[in-house]
Amino acid sequence: EKDGHDWFMRKEIFEQPRAVADSLLGRRNAAGRLQLDEVRLSDEELRDIDKVIVIACGTSFYAGMVAKYAIEHWCRIPVEVELASEFRYRDPILTRETLVVAISQSGETADTLQAIRHARTQRSKVLAICNSNGSTIPRESDAVIYTHAGPEIGVASTKGFLTQLVACYLLGLYLAQVKGTRYNDEIAQVVDQLEQMPAHIETVLGQADQVYALAREFVGTPSVLFLGRHAGYPVALEGALKLKELAYIHAEGFAAGELKHGPIALVDDGLPIWCVVPPRGRDQLHEKMVSGIQEVRARGARTICLAEEGDTAIEPYADELIRLPKVPVLLQPLVAAVPLQLFACELATLMGHDVDMPRNLAKSVTVE
Ligand code: BG6
Repeated sequence: EKDGHDWFMRKEIFEQPRAVADSLLGRRNAAGRLQLDEVRLSDEELRDIDKVIVIACGTSFYAGMVAKYAIEHWCRIPVEVELASEFRYRDPILTRETLVVAISQSGETADTLQAIRHARTQRSKVLAICNSNGSTIPRESDAVIYTHAGPEIGVASTKGFLTQLVACYLLGLYLAQVKGTRYNDEIAQVVDQLEQMPAHIETVLGQADQVYALAREFVGTPSVLFLGRHAGYPVALEGALKLKELAYIHAEGFAAGELKHGPIALVDDGLPIWCVVPPRGRDQLHEKMVSGIQEVRARGARTICLAEEGDTAIEPYADELIRLPKVPVLLQPLVAAVPLQLFACELATLMGHDVDMPRNLAKSVTVE
């Protein structure tokens, strides 16, 4: 049942190429246009949407953060991302033109469920991104995009997260298609790039042994930091969450640009810092990240960099370097999250923890 793996979690990490491929299956019609069967909202209703609010908890929340970068870029409408447990209690501004996107692997998380119930009382449209057919959240939503990860047994989400990212990208591209904010050719090109992601994820999984060797080196470390920018920022947060959940060690993710405004005070000799380096592009993201990495390294940090193939600028500042396939920045979370999952899984295993059932956690939390 674990396919020869020691944990369900590890099996699920290695299933990700398949899970991502399945989540992309059948999303285009014969004419190459995106079609999302379970989006039971008319084009007219979707065209009227003037704001998106993504609500979720835990790992699903980080998928929502990536959704914000993608949907705002492609659709030019404002996207807020909010923890489900905070959403309902702050009197959010909801109208008929608001699309509330609830992301939940289980479809049963009480905080998320209560949040969508509140949104519906305000007449907002609710779309669920969910991995469990027929669960409560999709049943109470106007529309649903199912991820096709298959059952996720490990309490810490892995393939659930990657397939949520896929669903978020599909939603963003679909909205762009309906609203006409992007040319069809451009949308088709991104879908083509998405279809190459399973092979890219496979390439990253091929480097598992390098990540495991790192985990062996860091057994006993009291603290690990994670830095990212843009779509790499939620990846940093997710990397830190995985380590907290599984290895029970102090871990924090930061937006790299925010370092100098406080967190850099934490940096001390030998502190391991994972750095999600953005692809080189026309923007300044890559250069800014490299200079942030330089700063922490000058203060004694051990930098473990995730950087795309061919990125030589990072080499002088990377104590350890794990290569990622060349992909656009918005899609990079699909490859960058994987080494962080492997690292947390391996480190926790070496520490003798039960990776599938971490202490104090439940797979789905059905109380608020
Ligand atoms: C937590 C789980 O309690 O719920 C996390 O331990 C998960 O792994 C979070 O990300 C949200 O769950 P769901 O099912 O709503 O995505």
